[in-house]
Amino acid sequence: KNYVLTKELATKIDLILAAHENDGSQLVGILLDIQELIPNHYIPEEVAYYLAEKLDVKITNIYDCITFYSSLSTTPRAKYPIQICNSIVCKVNQNDTIFTTLKDLLGINLNEITYDGRFTLESVACFGACDMAPAVRINGKVYGYLTSRAKIENLLSELI
Ligand code: FES
Repeated sequence: KNYVLTKELATKIDLILAAHENDGSQLVGILLDIQELIPNHYIPEEVAYYLAEKLDVKITNIYDCITFYSSLSTTPRAKYPIQICNSIVCKVNQNDTIFTTLKDLLGINLNEITYDGRFTLESVACFGACDMAPAVRINGKVYGYLTSRAKIENLLSELI
């Protein structure tokens, strides 16, 4: 397989590999560290092949690992993944307003990414912010009481 990888990125990856003693049994940690380096936090195909060669592991092992760990991804992720809680307390507090408003404002459906790579929408289970229902979580930060379109518009303008 022919792959193209910038010299700069290859050098950074080599440093990460060295920090993990080029040890293929530390694959998860290696992949997590590399993913941090890459804009949109994912493992591009050329990087997966580079690692397979460097660590002398099968490419299928690399992909098995990425598929198994939900914090690893083979596809680009948005800068702001908006996780909308779809559990019971948020549901009874009209979280459907959040779904419809965000789909409308961003022009995407669930699990899609906006053209500029900034936003994705995900439906997730309760993350413990029920006292602020209905709530969303973005990069680990919780935003609650999103009961109206105006509040949701405010939240987006804060992020932009
Ligand atoms: Fe939505 Fe708990 S039910 S945060």
